[in-house]
Amino acid sequence: MSTTFQLDTSTSRANPTPKPRKRLTVPRIRDHKKDGQTKEPLVMLTAYTARQAQLLDAHCDILLVGDSLGQVIYGLDSTLPVTAEMMIAHGAAVVRGSYHSLVVVDMPFGAYEKSKEQAFDTASRIMADTGCAAVKLEGGEAMAETIAFLTNRGIPVMGHVGLTPQAVNVLGGYAARGRSQQEHEKILRDGKAVQDAGAFSLVAEGVIEPIAIALTQSLEIPVIGIGASAQCDGQVLVTEDMLGMFERVPRFVKRYEDIASVIDKTVAKYAEEVRDRSFPTEEQTYQPKG
Ligand code: KIV
Repeated sequence: MSTTFQLDTSTSRANPTPKPRKRLTVPRIRDHKKDGQTKEPLVMLTAYTARQAQLLDAHCDILLVGDSLGQVIYGLDSTLPVTAEMMIAHGAAVVRGSYHSLVVVDMPFGAYEKSKEQAFDTASRIMADTGCAAVKLEGGEAMAETIAFLTNRGIPVMGHVGLTPQAVNVLGGYAARGRSQQEHEKILRDGKAVQDAGAFSLVAEGVIEPIAIALTQSLEIPVIGIGASAQCDGQVLVTEDMLGMFERVPRFVKRYEDIASVIDKTVAKYAEEVRDRSFPTEEQTYQPKG
């Protein structure tokens, strides 16, 4: 399906043709899983800019403004230095660029863990300033009270368990989780705690497949996997990873394209034409009228 955009200069909004379907809501995503079963898995990708959101929107159910933008957009080493201001700027751009997908914005490290009140302040600001429908936060049992506090006050929450990148210094790296019996039980308890606290869905990242399956089968809310299992209720990837923007990608990523090579070849051609003065041509230059 190909969508084109006409810019409405009075509102600066790009109007898509064909007209998109109505935006998905939190209850619709939650109810995608019925009686513990999901017929068609949910499609989720990260998005950080308006144009990227326009291109992804028609194909996705959920666009995640992930704090992975720290590494992908800002070249940071981890997600830890990402701020609420960054999340708000990119979240607002993605909401402007999308019409159909539910937009979820990550809560950044340090902006929600101290207290449920701190979490409410950050989440309400993110929602008010971006227009997104929900926030995502990392952590299981330890975050249950906060998730209940938020959901009881009008803030839909997507949970995130298993490999939680904001806890990289506690976990000691980005290796898959759940290999020991202790970790296995903890991930299942975390998922249950997040669900019971009122989260409408859950990301399970970097967990060995039997646990991803057990988690998916044991919860009523959709479990969206990344480095988890095809049997989850949905899948998410970092868009730049699956498009092949980076040479090195984690094992769980499938590279559907090699966009980095396309960009390299295209820019090399441009540079060559600038240097040999074959760009711009008459077609791209303005001449006096008449
Ligand atoms: O920040 C992010 O992009 C994420 C996904 C990888 C789930 O949390």
